[in-house]
Amino acid sequence: MNAAPSQLFGLTGLAKAPADLPVLVVGAGIMGAGIAQVAAQAGHPVMLFDVREGAAAQARDQLATTFDTLVAKQKLTAEAAAHILARIQVVTALDSAARAHLVVEAIVEKLEVKRSLFQQLEAVVSADCVLATNTSSISVTAIANGLHHPQRLVGMHFFNPVPLMKLVEVVSGLQTAPAVADGIVELAQAWGKTPVHARSTPGFIVNRIARPYYAETLALLQEQAANPAVLDACLRSVGFRMGPCELMDLIGHDTNFSVTSSVYEANFFDKRFVPSLVQRELVDGGLLGRKTGRGFYSYAPGAEKPAMVPDSPALTGLPPFTTLAVVGTGPVADALHQRLAAHMPERLAEVARLPDAGWVGLQVGDAQLRLTDGRTATELGGVSAADTAVFDWPTLVAPTEVLAWAPSVRSSDAWATQAPLWLQALGFNPQRLADVPGLVVARTLSMLVNEAADAVQQGVCSAVGADAAMKLGVNYPAGPFDWLARWGAPAVVQVLAALDATYRGERYRTSPWLRQQAALA
Ligand code: NAI
Repeated sequence: MNAAPSQLFGLTGLAKAPADLPVLVVGAGIMGAGIAQVAAQAGHPVMLFDVREGAAAQARDQLATTFDTLVAKQKLTAEAAAHILARIQVVTALDSAARAHLVVEAIVEKLEVKRSLFQQLEAVVSADCVLATNTSSISVTAIANGLHHPQRLVGMHFFNPVPLMKLVEVVSGLQTAPAVADGIVELAQAWGKTPVHARSTPGFIVNRIARPYYAETLALLQEQAANPAVLDACLRSVGFRMGPCELMDLIGHDTNFSVTSSVYEANFFDKRFVPSLVQRELVDGGLLGRKTGRGFYSYAPGAEKPAMVPDSPALTGLPPFTTLAVVGTGPVADALHQRLAAHMPERLAEVARLPDAGWVGLQVGDAQLRLTDGRTATELGGVSAADTAVFDWPTLVAPTEVLAWAPSVRSSDAWATQAPLWLQALGFNPQRLADVPGLVVARTLSMLVNEAADAVQQGVCSAVGADAAMKLGVNYPAGPFDWLARWGAPAVVQVLAALDATYRGERYRTSPWLRQQAALA
């Protein structure tokens, strides 16, 4: 077959005339059933096949129940539900692939099994049929190896639950024809999804960029910097729906650990992705999270709701001071000044502004309360300014924002008591951490940005694609490049540099792309 791929595979037509073109879904498990539902809802005749006898019929019955529920909730009319269900046909042999214009594979996550399935399919399908894999971790390039027409194989990576999650990563292997990937992008749009194009690299977009969300918390736990409830509360305060610990408990530590391990192995054991001993121990101990009733938190009947951190009590007056200054410039310094103005209007005249000190925060007499730049309070204070404390990156929008802080180990007891009172007076719910570099939010966001920057530089996805993928695939409150715009490349690079200086090794190396952005800023 020598024709150009765009003439070979008629996917543009598939997107434009969805009602006419049959789709075969292979694998009727949790993902396959969802993909069948979405394709049928978009108007396609759908064939559903599973190697396990009765599995496809069972999946169809389950879908019928789902549609009944949607009808009862008035999200679907009974007539529409009947039409959609009628479009889903159970097939018992792969020969049916001859009628399909698109095959979506959602079978077991094993390279050899997927390869062999696609080779069987190639012998049956029409010349212009496109083959798509829903693999979440296997290289699309590797799955295509052995096909006569590897250019027609593409990744179509849905997220669970398929009918609800908007994101589809459209993954191009080395030989995937651009027209095939473009056709799947159009098709995913026609199915009501938001497709984001990715190059086939370990973890694609979401599973790669999300690694630090878990890894940094696991590292902080290993260092005994804080307990899971505090770390979760700090990250929920930034807008994440779930903190990393409760989220890992939900996903299952076995699943999360295996994704981390596979990204680590696939990157030739790059220390950046090294899995955590903390998680390994949970897996080894069978503490897999919700599904076993115990992970970081207990889910036994009657167990307390996880991850609750008490609000700090409201503060009536200000801690005593002789001199007080808001230090530095920018949104955090401005917000501190405004909050002091609201809290103590009668003493505002006593508050100096020191814009040029090279840091941001409050100077209370000789003591310093500094926005973290990645370095620890102990490093920043040195010997001369023992009474130093650092606080985490705030969002400044949450009404009762949980904020990590840490005093220098040289701090006097008086300052270690007063520093959080100042944070309370400024409207935060301060949570004390050990004096670790980058605390929680600055450290986690910087690493998410760093990973996203590497992905962009390596042509895995665009910055816009990375933001969309993280917001839609894992419900992040903002994308990594939104955070980069907010905090600025120099601040992110500074936090990474401090982490790198503390821990050494490859883990915190700065993305060259990010370094360049910092140089341009
Ligand atoms: P599952 O275990 O629920 O379903 C897999 C189905 O495939 C089973 O019914 C099994 O009988 C069938 N099967 C296995 N080998 C087969 C073969 N050779 N031919 C036909 N059918 C075969 O698995 P799940 O969770 O639906 O995952 C399927 C694929 O989707 C995997 O590649 C997985 O990595 C990927 N994926 C899973 C996500 C999830 O959250 N579960 C998210 C995104 C992708």
